[in-house]
Amino acid sequence: MSTSSGNITSVLKETRAFIPPAEFSANAHVKSMAEYEKLWQDAAKDPEKFWGQQAETLQWMQKWNKVLEWNPPHAKWFVGGKLNISANCLDRHLHGPRHNKAAIIWEGEPGEQRILTYQMLHREVCKFANVLKNIGTKSGDRVTIYMPMIPEAAIAMLACARIGAIHSVIFGGYSADAVADRNNDAGAKILITADGGWRRGKVIPLKENVDKSLEKSPTIEKVVVFNRCNLSVNMKAGRDMWWHEEMAKASADCPAEPFDSEHPLFILYTSGSTGKPKGILHTSAGYLLGTSSTHKWVFDLKEDDVYWCTADVGWITGHSYIVYGPLCNGATVMMFEGAPNHPKEDRFWEIIEKYRVSIFYTAPTAIRAFIKWGDHWPDSHDLSSLRLLGSVGEPINTEAWMWYHEKIGKGRCPIVDTWWQTETGSMMIAPMPGAIPTKPGSATKPLPGIIAEVVDQKGNRVAANQGGFLVIRKPWPSMLRTIFNDDVRYKEQYWSQIPNTYFTADGAREDEDGYIWVMGRVDDVLNVAGHRLSTMEIESALGSHAKVAESAVVGKPDEIKGEGICCFVTVKAGVVVSEELKKELRDHVTKEIGALARPDEIRFTDSLPKTRSGKIMRRLLRDIASGKQTTGDTSTLEDYTVLSKLRQEDE
Ligand code: WT7
Repeated sequence: MSTSSGNITSVLKETRAFIPPAEFSANAHVKSMAEYEKLWQDAAKDPEKFWGQQAETLQWMQKWNKVLEWNPPHAKWFVGGKLNISANCLDRHLHGPRHNKAAIIWEGEPGEQRILTYQMLHREVCKFANVLKNIGTKSGDRVTIYMPMIPEAAIAMLACARIGAIHSVIFGGYSADAVADRNNDAGAKILITADGGWRRGKVIPLKENVDKSLEKSPTIEKVVVFNRCNLSVNMKAGRDMWWHEEMAKASADCPAEPFDSEHPLFILYTSGSTGKPKGILHTSAGYLLGTSSTHKWVFDLKEDDVYWCTADVGWITGHSYIVYGPLCNGATVMMFEGAPNHPKEDRFWEIIEKYRVSIFYTAPTAIRAFIKWGDHWPDSHDLSSLRLLGSVGEPINTEAWMWYHEKIGKGRCPIVDTWWQTETGSMMIAPMPGAIPTKPGSATKPLPGIIAEVVDQKGNRVAANQGGFLVIRKPWPSMLRTIFNDDVRYKEQYWSQIPNTYFTADGAREDEDGYIWVMGRVDDVLNVAGHRLSTMEIESALGSHAKVAESAVVGKPDEIKGEGICCFVTVKAGVVVSEELKKELRDHVTKEIGALARPDEIRFTDSLPKTRSGKIMRRLLRDIASGKQTTGDTSTLEDYTVLSKLRQEDE
């Protein structure tokens, strides 16, 4: 069956539901659908009262006097309150049974192990906060963190939070140019990196990338380098310093200072539908409340859980669900540096067995890779410690869901499919696993305090099972506050489609049981292996190559990555196209953005299909890229022959 509304078509097929195991529900924080409904209804009736009560779970240095100040589209939460985010994640756990509890259990790709208890992590964070102060970092300064998945990445983030500096973590897979753009946009003064990091048996030369980026980032004054791989790197006197040398000089005494609830905590860059990445700004109290409450509800966290989120700290999932949410809740967090298939395809299952991981949170793209690698890998490990599984990043296809449920969860473990975004800061739609029966492919229902609806272009709710736009009606504590240095874009991007309503840019439908099924983006954003990439950003990278005249980038279905990157390219007059040029262009995009944006396919063409007003008709290109017949209206196409030529290329 297929239903549609406007240009969004929803295909209904999945009807199975999985009831939470009785024993799981009996021990859960939220035990039944009725309990969830009551929580949700109470929160919807009086959101400020609800969030005000929830905020009691944080440790305040000065209590707030107003829950919310809403001047659409700008929100201030817990006005007048003061707290320290790092104290909420560390100091509060030191005076009770958690002081010697493992905060981070880390394994490096080559196999080293480190365990940092809450007390040890606190000490490292205090020392590094003093290092930051010693090199001139002040509250409000921007600090770039470009690191591998090592505990020092979390230490650096928490140290920034401790002294009120604003961190901007850049995923280690980004190129030097991408690092420079982000340094410049943020006006970052300090950069924290490592000599390198391990990935699939190879060292990624982070410091070398940093050196290149610094030729174009004039605002960076100091660089702190952690020695991870014993690489010999260039250290510029007066600018670069070693982490271990500075730490040796630093005091471990760094009392947590109070900061305003709305003090900026971090900037995280993400792709939008234009070429320029957006610096999503998150602030303190509301963000911490959103991440910690959802981490507890959705993972149904217990004191003795060993919790593992496989994301990189360079993405929002790593910020919210490796660092801030779990540490605020006093959880034991597993952290792994490397790839799931190094040295072999069972590395994740080996880690789960070895550390008795109980909660495992990963992405559909990873699950599809596991399926491809074969069942013998998980089958050869004891996965009996697992009690809950999570998914994030894109819609999870039924096959992946069922495999995850049967092969990894052995039919015992509820699966929490969590829908949210960099902008939302924390999970918005996800099941409370003891309360809500799950349906494969649906993130189920909005969490308490979240009013999510599926609407048409005018903002009217569409009927059950009709496709529409997913929107959020009311502000929520962990929402982005603005786009750094670009409040105009913030308003346009998120709040202009439908008045006073947050526009997610995802298409969705709500079924007859109130379950939400997210169908994917409705803008020019690709979701490649869970990484958000803008087609425009890739087009502008291609456009910066001397031989390229014009390009159009679209997604095409990819079995593992969800979406692959297909580039239609016209070259400048006189340029001869060749397989070598294809490789050159793919390398060029990798250099400009990073390996995560490397095109899967380059197609040369004499011209691109355009409307009479000159707009590229991406819909047609998407059809061609995925090998489909052209569907829909082509009446505005300027030159009909373009299409048939593009198809010929295909043959
Ligand atoms: C976009 C946000 C926040 C987590 C990591 C990605 C897609 C995310 C789901 C899900 C269907 C999902 C959406 C969203 N997405 N989770 N469970 N089901 N789609 O963060 O890079 O900000 O991307 O990822 O399209 O808008 P992000």
